[in-house]
Amino acid sequence: MSIIKLLSKKIDRTLFTTPSHSQKALFNQNFNCFYNHDFSEIDGFDNLSNPKSSIFHAQSKTAEILNAKKTFFITQGATTAILAAMKAIINPADRVLVARNCHKSVFNGLILTAAYVDWFMPETDENWGIYTHIDTDKLEATLSLNQYKMFIMTSPTYEGINSDIEKIAKICKKYDTYLMVDEAHGSLYNFSDKLFKSAIAQGADITINSLHKTAGALNQCALLNIGQNIQKVDIDIFQKSINLFHTSSPSYPLLENIESCINFLNSKEGKNEIDNLLNEIDKFKKDLSRFGVEFFESENHDPTKILVRKEGISGFDLSDSMFDEFNIEDELNNSVACLYLTGIGTTKSKLEKLKNSLKKVVTNPSFKFEKVDFQPFPLVKIQPVDTFNRDYIFVNKDEALLKISNKMIMPYPPGIGLLYPGEAIQKWHLDYLNNDVEIMV
Ligand SMILES: Cc1ncc(COP(=O)(O)O)c(C=O)c1O
Repeated sequence: MSIIKLLSKKIDRTLFTTPSHSQKALFNQNFNCFYNHDFSEIDGFDNLSNPKSSIFHAQSKTAEILNAKKTFFITQGATTAILAAMKAIINPADRVLVARNCHKSVFNGLILTAAYVDWFMPETDENWGIYTHIDTDKLEATLSLNQYKMFIMTSPTYEGINSDIEKIAKICKKYDTYLMVDEAHGSLYNFSDKLFKSAIAQGADITINSLHKTAGALNQCALLNIGQNIQKVDIDIFQKSINLFHTSSPSYPLLENIESCINFLNSKEGKNEIDNLLNEIDKFKKDLSRFGVEFFESENHDPTKILVRKEGISGFDLSDSMFDEFNIEDELNNSVACLYLTGIGTTKSKLEKLKNSLKKVVTNPSFKFEKVDFQPFPLVKIQPVDTFNRDYIFVNKDEALLKISNKMIMPYPPGIGLLYPGEAIQKWHLDYLNNDVEIMV
């Protein structure tokens, strides 16, 4: 089917996925028509690769709102922001420490920067089958062993778990390591006292926000923010690095959408919208709890990411039933739970539909529950930079154990690698592989 045909059909689904805007223009009605603002950098317009007027002002105002030293608008997703930030700081052969639950774009950044990676395992919650926070004692112990140029981590996690960035930033400073926090899923944090302090406000050197995930912006709207106290780096290097990855024809509609999104979030209306969403989620949870539905909750958990489970029902079955019976799509699921993402654009009626449908599904007793099993510590045999363009052969799965994989195992979402190219295939990985396995030679 053509793209035109696909999109001309009515999509009869209730989506608790990214983007959060529910396919409606929320803060700028012009976005119902993309064309009338689709200019290139014509005379009198600014230039994203060297902003001096409108883009410069919009970026500066955003930096002020976010309390960042500098903010860059990115119209090619958090992915590009991540690549640019890594390239700005990391030189070939620099050693970097990367939390294993980072998005795959970080692995791509390791290839592009020719960095030497050590992986860091975040904590896990076995009952929910998810990664949780970064343990600060373990982090300090690791940083004390080697000189790392950068520590790259994700907070909040896909499922909404926040790490103690303030403490992590202090530890990284102590060991002269840049801290980059992928805050793709935490774009609302600056705009409500009821959520968390942003990573920039807590002292991170670099943060990335993905405005389309939960802040109601269009796909690909992202921010790269530089912290107030970043040291030993010329800020211009970030612009230079962005220019390596960013198209020379950035979309003005997307730039405008980023600016409108920030203005909206920073307005009374925006703050009320977040407050209302949090209140509705609270009521939603109280109501469903009466039916034996459990929600992941903890003091470092972002309530806008609704992670739900019901004893006796696997997350996969819950997800399938919600989709098959009610056309409700979750963002992701595991053998225990389902994740429903909410944000700017999640209406009361959408939550109501989710609640009523969940009630019906969880009262059906014919499901089974499985236990989640976490990936083993990765065995890196070949560094990411040397994995690209490498020769490989196929072997039968029976012979693949401890051979070096040429492929990634990557459920998407969340886009977190279970096995990356260059890593040894461990017993745990075999279940995810087909019979013909690509191994490096
Ligand atoms: C934690 C995290 N970082 C970065 C990205 C990449 O974002 P984008 O799709 O905007 O490039 C994602 C996408 O899922 C993500 O989950």
